[in-house]
Amino acid sequence: MKTLHLLSFCLLMVANETRKFEDCELFYKLRDLGLDGFRGIDVKQYVCMAGFPANYNTEYYETEEGVPHYGLFHLSGQEWCFNERRPSQNKCNISCDYLLDDDIADDVRCLKKVITEKGLEYWTHYQVNCSRGALSILHLSCSYFLEYQSWFKNLVLYGKKKEVHIHFN
Ligand SMILES: *[C@@H]1O[C@H](CO)[C@@H](O)[C@H](O)[C@H]1NC(C)=O
Ligand SMILES: *[C@@H]1O[C@H](CO)[C@@H](O)[C@H](O)[C@H]1NC(C)=O
Repeated sequence: MKTLHLLSFCLLMVANETRKFEDCELFYKLRDLGLDGFRGIDVKQYVCMAGFPANYNTEYYETEEGVPHYGLFHLSGQEWCFNERRPSQNKCNISCDYLLDDDIADDVRCLKKVITEKGLEYWTHYQVNCSRGALSILHLSCSYFLEYQSWFKNLVLYGKKKEVHIHFN
């Protein structure tokens, strides 16, 4: 019985894992989850939406005019997800808790639904943060990030080759 309790405790711990992304990490992750060009919207726009006000933090939670908002994309607990404490339309058929954990595939599924139904207007509050200028800075830094990563990988490979070389001498 004790083991069982411990096990369910561990499961709970895993289920409650949250995380903070780096902006470019999220850029590639969201691209992989099919958001690049979804409904004609550039992936940069989606990354920027996760930056404000969630600051790329999956556990972001905020109450706005009495309505709770959850996760990276501050989705409303009155309309999109279900939190057991208040009536909700629960249009994404998901518990709000799942919008706070480190698995963002379900967040993205819900986000796609919001975009399809409401478009970017749902996030009017934060459009000032995602101006053209902010988006191109994001794009530049993430392209640079990719280049830097491959440069770094080459350096590591080069280092390894050197090591082998020295070893055999
Ligand atoms: C971006 O959003 C934050 C809220 O998260 C706000 O405080 C800030 O003034 C905004 N910045 C710009 C440049 O609009
Ligand atoms: C909602 O999700 C549950 C499982 O979490 C599923 O059994 C049910 O069929 C879903 N309902 C709709 C309308 O998709």
